[in-house]
Amino acid sequence: MKETIRFRLNGQPKTLKTDGDRKLLWVLRTDLGLTGTKYGCGESLCGSCTVIVDGEAVRTCQLPMSAVQGKEVITIEGLAEGNAIHPLQEEFANRGALQCGFCTPGMIMNAYGLLLANKRPSRGEIVEGMEENLCRCGAHQRIVEAIEAASRRV
Ligand code: FES
Ligand code: FES
Repeated sequence: MKETIRFRLNGQPKTLKTDGDRKLLWVLRTDLGLTGTKYGCGESLCGSCTVIVDGEAVRTCQLPMSAVQGKEVITIEGLAEGNAIHPLQEEFANRGALQCGFCTPGMIMNAYGLLLANKRPSRGEIVEGMEENLCRCGAHQRIVEAIEAASRRV
């Protein structure tokens, strides 16, 4: 059934008439053209579809739109401030913390959520916080280093 869903997306108010069961991932990618959020497994297992909802990293492939009502959503497209990319984006690029790049938006959004909860995580806390985000290219070591470096800057 179609519902009117009001929420904030990357700082802007949004009102959509959509099926309340439709998953946020498809609204972002297909309806709104925000293709930075990636479809990996579709089963909440890989983390490639991660965004921030009310300050917490959330997987969107299983998240119904009805759960987004009244919430604040931030996607990878919303991290830059003007022309300045976020330190996490910069450190991922500088340290080559990616290979194919498919997992990268989900990695960065999960790391962003991690740093919101804990500004100066230890290496162990970063590893623990990121271990359920999968990277088939095996860039984990550099991903952890990039997050560590970004945490010293935010
Ligand atoms: S696509 Fe959502 S967790 Fe894999
Ligand atoms: S960089 Fe290719 S899956 Fe992570």
